[in-house]
Amino acid sequence: MVAMEKIETTKPLIELINVTKTFKRGKQEVTILKGLDLKIYEGEFIMIMGKSGSGKTTLMNIIGFLDRISSGIFHFRGEDVSSLNENKKSDYRNAFFGFVFQQFFLIEALNVQQNVELPMVYKGVHQAKEKKAKAQHFLDLVGIGEKMKDKTTELSGGQQQRVAIARALVNDPLLIMADEPTGALDSETGKVIMDTLKQLNEEGKTIVMVTHDSDLTAYASRVIYMKDGCFEEEVKKL
Ligand SMILES: Nc1ncnc2c1ncn2[C@@H]1O[C@H](COP(=O)(O)OP(=O)(O)OP(=O)(O)O)[C@@H](O)[C@H]1O
Ligand SMILES: [Mg+2]
Repeated sequence: MVAMEKIETTKPLIELINVTKTFKRGKQEVTILKGLDLKIYEGEFIMIMGKSGSGKTTLMNIIGFLDRISSGIFHFRGEDVSSLNENKKSDYRNAFFGFVFQQFFLIEALNVQQNVELPMVYKGVHQAKEKKAKAQHFLDLVGIGEKMKDKTTELSGGQQQRVAIARALVNDPLLIMADEPTGALDSETGKVIMDTLKQLNEEGKTIVMVTHDSDLTAYASRVIYMKDGCFEEEVKKL
């Protein structure tokens, strides 16, 4: 009885029902995501694997409110995402998601501190003291607190990715979306990044990560394989 109640009260953060995504290529429409069903629950560490072109980034962009679905249903915390206007969607994106990409996407003209502060600026935090304290806190958390004033171009790849993770964390997101976060790093540095993500997940952050590296699936609580815009296989772990 208790177990039943628990199941009923645990709502997914993300729910996709029969979701498709099509792109126009010249005059032709190409279907990239072919009717996906997916529920993501708080606290999960999901890894998405699949060949190049299978639709992983397209799926990540949809989940992260960076792109819209072509058909189907997308619920975020029980709310229908298609009913949200663009402003509301970008507010949600900034409030609930942190993004980490293969190529870091740091802004070269800004130093480390300013890069990490950026999502707070978008959120409307203007107090310099508050921004600085948070930037320091999250840079300390990822182990590069002493790099606050450095230029991002003078950091190693692993350090740049840690700046990107700190930036992803400053607004205390519900979900961290990481598309090949270790793809541009050597395996040792990649392990440092994975250990950081694992630690964040153990502290309660929900993580959705794309990877080509099957060795990394050991970090995941669930692995989903994609092929040609479909989910081929889902491996649940404890
Ligand atoms: N904006 C777009 N317009 C047209 N086609 C697109 C667009 N974005 C992606 N595609 C196509 O969708 C397919 C899936 O792309 P996607 O980037 O999701 O693959 P992926 O699984 O992330 O691949 P990779 O592992 O190489 O990153 C590809 O065939 C790609 O060309
Ligand atoms: Mg991709």
